[in-house]
Parts: sequence; C-alpha cells; structure tokens
Amino acid sequence: MLPPSSYLYMMGNFGLQILVIVISFLQSLGRITMAVAVDVSRFESITMAPPDPILGVSEAFRADTHEMKLNLGVGAYRTEELQPYVLGVVKKAENLMLERGEFKEYLPIEGLAAFNKATAELLLGADNPIIKQQRIATVQGLSGTGSLRLAAALIERYFTGAKVLISSPTWGNHKNIFNDARVPWSEYRYYDPKTVGLDFDGMISDIKAAPEGSFILLHGCAHNPTGIDPTPEQWEAIADVIQEKNHIPFFDVAYQGFASGSLDADASSVRLFAARGMELLVAQSYSKNLGLYAERIGAINVVCSSADAAARVKSQLKRIARPMYSNPPVHGARIVANVVGDPALFNEWKEEMELMAGRIKSVRQKLYDSICAKDKSGKDWSYILKQIGMFSFTGLNRAQSDNMTDKWHVYMTKDGRISLAGLSAAKCEYLADAIIDSFYNVS
Ligand SMILES: Cc1ncc(COP(=O)(O)O)c(C=O)c1O
Repeated sequence: MLPPSSYLYMMGNFGLQILVIVISFLQSLGRITMAVAVDVSRFESITMAPPDPILGVSEAFRADTHEMKLNLGVGAYRTEELQPYVLGVVKKAENLMLERGEFKEYLPIEGLAAFNKATAELLLGADNPIIKQQRIATVQGLSGTGSLRLAAALIERYFTGAKVLISSPTWGNHKNIFNDARVPWSEYRYYDPKTVGLDFDGMISDIKAAPEGSFILLHGCAHNPTGIDPTPEQWEAIADVIQEKNHIPFFDVAYQGFASGSLDADASSVRLFAARGMELLVAQSYSKNLGLYAERIGAINVVCSSADAAARVKSQLKRIARPMYSNPPVHGARIVANVVGDPALFNEWKEEMELMAGRIKSVRQKLYDSICAKDKSGKDWSYILKQIGMFSFTGLNRAQSDNMTDKWHVYMTKDGRISLAGLSAAKCEYLADAIIDSFYNVS
C-alpha cells in the first residue's frame, strides 16, 4: 500500500483542494483532527514574507559570481581589503574577560551596571549634571533595534495614541518597529531631491503641524540613509519648534564617534537638547562604533525632569523587557564597560574609531574626485562630499539603482543609498563609472 502522500500527489491540485474542503468540513463537525491530513500544513494560511530590503541585498550579492561585484548594501565596516574588521580594543577587552574568568550568570533585567553607567556618560558627557541628578533612566537593550523597540513599547503603553514622526526617508526598520509596537507614525519632510540636501523648511513646518505632544524621531548624527545632517544652527531651530509644540524628542544614535571620528562631536545634537532641560529619549547602538554588530549591545535612555520620574520610567522599561527577553546578553556589555572603563583602552578605541571614520572619508573624497574627473557635463556632485557617515545618498532613482546592480554588479538599496564602508580606494574608479552610466543612460 502506498503512503497517503502518494495518493494526494496522484490526485493533483484539484484533488488536494477537494481533500482540504472535506477535511475542513469534517473538522467543523468535530469528527477529525488535522493530524490525519499528512501533507497539509497547519500553517497553510501563512504566506511567504518578502525579503528584508537591506539584508536581502547581501543574499543577492552572495549569489553573484562576477569578479567586480561590490556589496554597498549593508552598513558594516570593511577594511581596505573589503574584509570584516574586529577592533583591536575589542580583542583586548575579550582577553581581559578571559583572564578575569568573568561569570556567565544572568544579568539584572536592566543590564550590566558598569555598562549602563558608561553608556549614559558617553552619551551626555561624564560630568553632565543630568547624571549626577539621576535624571536619566538607562536600560541595556538588544542593540539599537531592541532599544528602539523597548521605547516604542513604552510609548504604546503610556502615551496611547501619541504619534511618532519619522523622517522621510529613514532607516527601513523604523517603520517596522513602530508598526509592530502598534504606535501610529507619520513622516516629516527631510530630503530634498532637487538639492540632494536637507529640506529644512519642510522639516520645520511638518514638525510644527504635528499634534502637540508627538514624539519626533531624530537621527543623532549621520542620518541613515541620506548622510545629510542639520547644521548646529538648524539643530537649534529644530529644538525651538519641538519645545514650542511640547513634542518629545526621540534620538536614534547608531553612529556616535563613527560619523566624525569624535564621540563628543557626534553627541552634540543630543547634548544641545538635553542642555535646554528637555525630557528626551535616546536609543544607542555599539554595532558600528565598536564593530559589535552581532553582540547586540545598546541602550535606551530616557532623560526625565526629575530623579523620581526617571526611577519610575526605568521600572516600567524593565517590566516591558522581562516578558520580551527576560534580561540582556552580557558579552557585549562587558566589552563596552571594559573599554570605556580603562583609560588606555578608551584612548585606543578613539584612535581606531578615527581610523575607521578616516577611511570612509577618504573613499568618499576619492569617489567624488573620480566622478568629477570622468563627468565633463559640469554637474555639481559636491553633495557627495557634504554628506557624513558611512552612507552616501547618490540621488539615483530605483531604475538607476537597478542598473547599478544588474549591469555593474554593485549591490545597494533601491533608494539609491550606498554604504561607503564597503568601498575600497581600489574600487572607486569602477564605482564612478557605474554611477555615471546609471545616471546618464537610465532615466
Ligand atoms: C539609524 C539606525 N538606527 C538603528 C540601527 C540599529 O542597528 P543595530 O540594531 O544593529 O544596533 C541602525 C543600523 O543600521 C541604523 O542605521
């Protein structure tokens, strides 16, 4: 006798459909359980999810066998040889952990105390009065994403119905995070395609028009995907309108120290708002600046107007974290705490960060120079140089970005973003040819 699946195969699709209908009918009579329907999954109604627009780029890159292929999709730092990079200070901090024989017991829900102290001090400056006054609630999170998700859950629970305003465009995962947390969001204008620069007036008027008490999500530095940051004067004006409208600033700081090479300069936007006495939220990530991508280390900080409010906020963040993942991982937290807590390692980290930021700046310059040398049309490409951080928004549209991939084997996100962290000096000429061809020969 053949197994039941063979009969189903012979019956073909039509037969299978009839069988499903019969089983459903019998099920509704309570006569049968799905256990008898051997090849019909209980998960039949679950459709295939689309690939992630950012992580999907790497999958396509891996499948390409062309010798000139270039992965400029994911924002991860590569060496000049285009190899992943583990920072020297990270190796030293890990050795310290081994020497000390540090334990692997559960952390408290809020994370490693030494990490939480270090991360708040890096963000605000160690002598910031907010820290002494205990007005900051810091909870270790699962990197930037997990920290944003905790904050989103806090907003959903305690500011029900409040809107989060996000920049247009923004990092692709922001929308997923707020959608999954059931937090309503809308966009404020940010990018001006005519200038490939900041639409400052649009940004200000959209923030002004938002319902009073909205959360305004701001990229602390190195805006992803555009690489376009407000100037210090523009940050002041943004703070003015947020204060006027009683909005709550919510910073996403994923690139502190990685954008300019200076931890302090890259935190200046957050510090400017904090110095005004505003309450604010800040999600931090150590994926890029310490290269701890897979360790999932970051934090959510809530600056409150009183120590009492901060204590209550922290208690609720812990309450949200407990049923989600119980407590955070220790490895990355110890690395950060060991690096920041040791003056020699801290200085070495700053040097390595300058090195990474410097390599990115130098390929940015070389790409610009190569494009200008090849393009005799007089087009102004200087926006490439004005952008900051690991990304460049090329201004290429979807069809042009497709041409970059299909013809030139340059993998990038479809919004025209390229990660300069994945570019070497040796490949700048090739990339310049690809950009010029895509820009002029594809509409
Ligand atoms: C703007 C922004 N926020 C947050 C993140 C979070 O990254 P992770 O969860 O790896 O720390 C990223 C990473 O690319 C980012 O670009």
